[in-house]
Amino acid sequence: MDNSVLIDVRHLVKTFPMEKHNFTALNKINLKFKTGEFTGLVGPSGSGKTTLLNVIGSLDAPTEGEVRVLGQSLDDLNPKKAANFRNRYLGFIFQTYNLLPVYNVYENVEYPLLLLKMPAAERKKTVLQSLEWVDLTDKIKSRPSQLSGGECQRVSIARAMVKTPKIVLADEPTANLDAENSHHILQTMLKLNQNLKTTFIFATHDDKVIQYLRRKIRLDDGQVVGDETITNH
Ligand SMILES: Nc1ncnc2c1ncn2[C@@H]1O[C@H](COP(=O)(O)OP(=O)(O)OP(=O)(O)O)[C@@H](O)[C@H]1O
Ligand SMILES: [Mg+2]
Repeated sequence: MDNSVLIDVRHLVKTFPMEKHNFTALNKINLKFKTGEFTGLVGPSGSGKTTLLNVIGSLDAPTEGEVRVLGQSLDDLNPKKAANFRNRYLGFIFQTYNLLPVYNVYENVEYPLLLLKMPAAERKKTVLQSLEWVDLTDKIKSRPSQLSGGECQRVSIARAMVKTPKIVLADEPTANLDAENSHHILQTMLKLNQNLKTTFIFATHDDKVIQYLRRKIRLDDGQVVGDETITNH
């Protein structure tokens, strides 16, 4: 395999069983992503952006074809190994946040580091740094139910970035953020991208995100209909 390819999506088909027939959400997708990309999946609602992120992150299995991440097909791993791989290398920012409701802000962000068995002192420093990135250090004791939508979104961003993963998969990460927070967070992401070569793949409709992208992949009806490199930054 070409070493510069970080994520290799080959002939990917994803269908969902429906009452009368199968629904094809992704239809023969071929894509390669390299280390250090800052790429967006764009396209109308229902075009397959979230489904593609979920399959890339092995949260959902392909119906046909395969996805290799760092040369590894996650379908070939047992569930425990796949979970370890995801936790070590991938950060997810979900469209619906997926925070743990009984944990407070600090604990939600700390959780991935506990799984990685990071020592306590380093863990604390890392969690606080990540909460600073999203400007939430004044809410560390709050539970998700006590936060606004935008604050929950920022916790989920901090949780994805806290372990400085190789790849961040971000589903509409700014959907509930005001312009100031969106730009602040995108600039933080860009810094991680430039300093640590963290690869970002966004699913987004948001022009505030789109203006930061270096590559824009357009989906329509489960197919790639455009793939554009943006050089004028
Ligand atoms: N679990 C599922 N079962 C059946 N159909 C599904 C399932 N998940 C997604 N779909 C369908 O697949 C299509 C693609 O959905 P997806 O969530 O990937 O779209 P999207 O591009 O992320 O849209 P949005 O911009 O609204 O977030 C939609 O038509 C959706 O209804
Ligand atoms: Mg979506």
